[in-house]
Amino acid sequence: MTASLKPRYSRIAGTGGYLPSRRLTNADLARQLAAQGIATSDEWIVERTGIRARHFADDGVPCSDLAVRAARQALETAHCKAQDIDLIIVATSTPDMVFPSTACIVQNKLGIHGCAAFDVQAVCSGFTYALAVADAMLRTGAAHKALVIGAEVFSRILDFTDRTTCVLFGDGAGAVVLEASHRPGIVASELHADGRHVGILCVPGTVSGGHVQGVPLLRMDGPAVFKLAVNVLEKVARSVLEKAGRTEADIDWLIPHQANVRIMQGTARKLKLAMDKVVVTVDEHGNTSAASIPLALDVAVRSGRVARGDTLLLEGVGGGFTWGAVLLDY
Ligand SMILES: CC(C)(COP(=O)(O)OP(=O)(O)OC[C@H]1O[C@@H](n2cnc3c(N)ncnc32)[C@H](O)[C@@H]1OP(=O)(O)O)[C@@H](O)C(=O)NCCC(=O)NCCS
Repeated sequence: MTASLKPRYSRIAGTGGYLPSRRLTNADLARQLAAQGIATSDEWIVERTGIRARHFADDGVPCSDLAVRAARQALETAHCKAQDIDLIIVATSTPDMVFPSTACIVQNKLGIHGCAAFDVQAVCSGFTYALAVADAMLRTGAAHKALVIGAEVFSRILDFTDRTTCVLFGDGAGAVVLEASHRPGIVASELHADGRHVGILCVPGTVSGGHVQGVPLLRMDGPAVFKLAVNVLEKVARSVLEKAGRTEADIDWLIPHQANVRIMQGTARKLKLAMDKVVVTVDEHGNTSAASIPLALDVAVRSGRVARGDTLLLEGVGGGFTWGAVLLDY
């Protein structure tokens, strides 16, 4: 078999992450909410979610700024020039504009022009969706080097009069450079959605006739989301492992979407994985939606926990309802 006929894979060449400098602890947030007569506490938030702090972007800082910071770091780690990138996918639910896509704005800020650039909207599963799409495009030869970014300014869509949701989320961005390769790389991926659950996690607003129609802030039935999340995260993990001919024992690191440490513990328990094989950043980041998985990956790589050759299972779940998993040899 000639080299050009060898099966193509895609592999992560470098990672990057960015958190805005404004960090709010649970106590900071509790003080802010108390001023509006809303009661919460560090104890409640830590016990129910594992979250201790989150980062918020300053007013006026758009999603694309965070995305570009993470992307530049990923390019540097991958020893890759922005000009080498021929595909940009940004997973976000908090884009700079209704259109054009945040990916186009990122492309311009990086000073590169002409390559394909588009957003993926799958809320907290967004990064697994974006990674699976980029992998498919690289494997067919449609692109050779992709920037896959998850970036969010979720603070902009939070209702700070609703204590059941506003304590859970944060802002941030994570990115990877994904390059075509003759060896894996990504070994299997799977994406799912079930639109029957639109109502349990949504921002039910839109723009029409120059006005916002409906509620442009996050609404969530937390307990319903919790139950669905643990269920689908176990199923999709098993399914993607089976597809790759591997088992739970082959996983070096589980890098799940960082929504709530109890969801991660529930998933790990079902998969019979010890928690010391699970990357947890929700304590310091909160739920950064599409940014949470690439941010957690970048933290784990930079801390030396994730090493070249490790097998990683990335999995996400979020509004839609959407869920997905990507199994890869790092
Ligand atoms: C939201 C979540 C933390 C709530 O935890 P829970 O254990 O289910 O708590 P409940 O919603 O049953 O609420 C329990 C009580 O705490 C109260 N409470 C809710 N938020 C609170 C807060 N921030 N501070 C203090 N009390 C709070 C509720 O009002 C309720 O009080 P009541 O019993 O007097 O009515 C949990 O359901 C969750 O994490 N769900 C998944 C959310 C998620 O991950 N979403 C993103 C997925 S991508």
